[in-house]
Amino acid sequence: MGQFEGKTAVVTGGSTGIGLATAIRLAAEGAHVFITGRRKAALDAAVETIGPAGATAVVGDISDLTDLDRLYDAVRARGRGLDVVFANAASASFATLEQTTEQHFDQTFGVNVRGTLFTVQKALPLLNDGASVILNSSVRAGDGVAAFGTYAASKAAIRSYARTWANELKDRNIRVNAISPGTIDTPGLDAVADTGDAPVTTSQFAAGVPLGRIGHPDEVANVVAFLASEQSSFILGANLYIDGGEAQL
Ligand SMILES: NC(=O)c1ccc[n+]([C@@H]2O[C@H](COP(=O)([O-])OP(=O)(O)OC[C@H]3O[C@@H](n4cnc5c(N)ncnc54)[C@H](OP(=O)(O)O)[C@@H]3O)[C@@H](O)[C@H]2O)c1
Repeated sequence: MGQFEGKTAVVTGGSTGIGLATAIRLAAEGAHVFITGRRKAALDAAVETIGPAGATAVVGDISDLTDLDRLYDAVRARGRGLDVVFANAASASFATLEQTTEQHFDQTFGVNVRGTLFTVQKALPLLNDGASVILNSSVRAGDGVAAFGTYAASKAAIRSYARTWANELKDRNIRVNAISPGTIDTPGLDAVADTGDAPVTTSQFAAGVPLGRIGHPDEVANVVAFLASEQSSFILGANLYIDGGEAQL
């Protein structure tokens, strides 16, 4: 029996990268995982990878509240409540203070902050006793990388929400924690690397990591699985770094 046998999980942004690695991990240990993302083809491919018995795809944008309602309607229809929410989907692109437009700010905060807030708020009626909510922040929440200010501020908001929501939900025996990945090898990293004035290479990213390499999505999935499980039963409102030492040394 896997440690998530009989459990139900939601992973937003579960079609690629960290979200997909986590959905694979949770399903491999017995959970049924609802994954969401905007591209149907990517979600369908992810369900094939996870194994159709272990996953359900619901196409949707987390910044659209009607899409979130459809996601949770699908979870509700399964009739087993919800044990794990990994609020992972986010948007990242470079813009300096001078370059930042209203559209860039609204898009980044609309997905990363507003979308994450309503992802968790709309899950509340379904969350079972002992549920675990994990929010995906970033090491960037704690530093000042040029041209990444709006993304960093959105991720700092996520880290902050983890503290407040942990306090508000603890009496329902629901734990909320955050994770802060460093530089992780995902399609999202490749995309963001191309949005600045000069493309950033993997070796440039790796140079800033004490372990001398960027991380693998499975290394993040391991920590999400830990936070989702009873193994982390005394961890509440925390922020676990998965960064090869980038924000530590
Ligand atoms: N990779 C890193 O180095 C790193 C470091 C720190 C933190 N993070 C965080 O880790 C999370 C995942 O990033 P990743 O690197 O794994 O990126 P990724 O490979 O690009 O995956 C992003 C996932 O989110 C989905 N998504 C994006 N916008 C969405 C929206 N508005 N609504 C619903 N789904 C959406 C994408 O699917 P669609 O495009 O089809 O919607 C995809 O499934 C993000 O929160 C990111 O900020 C990443």
